[in-house]
Amino acid sequence: MNRTLTRTDQLIHQFDTVLRTLVPHAAQPSRPSPATPEIVDEPMDDDERRHAAGLMRINHTGEVCAQALYQGQGLTAKLPEVRGQMEEAAQEEVDHLAWCDERLQELHDRPSLLNPLFYAASFGIGAVAGAVGDSVSLGFVAATEEQVGKHLDKHLETLPSGDRRSRAVLKQMVIDEAHHAQLALEAGGARFPAPVKAGMTLMSKVMTSSVYKL
Ligand SMILES: [Fe+2]
Ligand SMILES: [Fe+2]
Repeated sequence: MNRTLTRTDQLIHQFDTVLRTLVPHAAQPSRPSPATPEIVDEPMDDDERRHAAGLMRINHTGEVCAQALYQGQGLTAKLPEVRGQMEEAAQEEVDHLAWCDERLQELHDRPSLLNPLFYAASFGIGAVAGAVGDSVSLGFVAATEEQVGKHLDKHLETLPSGDRRSRAVLKQMVIDEAHHAQLALEAGGARFPAPVKAGMTLMSKVMTSSVYKL
């Protein structure tokens, strides 16, 4: 179906995405979780379970931010040739969001209470980057994905050794995020200078340290 969306259609669609992102268990994955039934955890004590949940909460909020970033960008960026690819990447982020949500439930924990705040901030950043220009907004996607990849690598190292199911989810996410970064660069994303990346690292530190507990 290829009809032009009216302003009202767009608003309803935006609102629907906000709800699907922020309401727990509302995201619909297109691929099943990599934590398949045959992957079984080893016993974890309470501290280990809490630590695993803290890490998965950070990853879940990262995916909330990804949704908001793509949505904000979609609102203002032109991206005529790569819009389809970006939408595909955004759908993979929905999978990540749902997988992290499922895993948090398995760990008897919940998503971050700060998610609406991070959603709003990321939406704004995405919209501004999109308005500045496609090369900046694609560059922003690439830099963000690279940062997420680094986080995931660190989490894979520090997850409790018995947590096999979270590990399965994160490993697939590493593959997907690297692909998203590559897509954005190939589509003409600007490579950001080191000071901009340093600023992004600082922001992500604020996010990770608050969301681990909250
Ligand atoms: Fe993701
Ligand atoms: Fe991604």
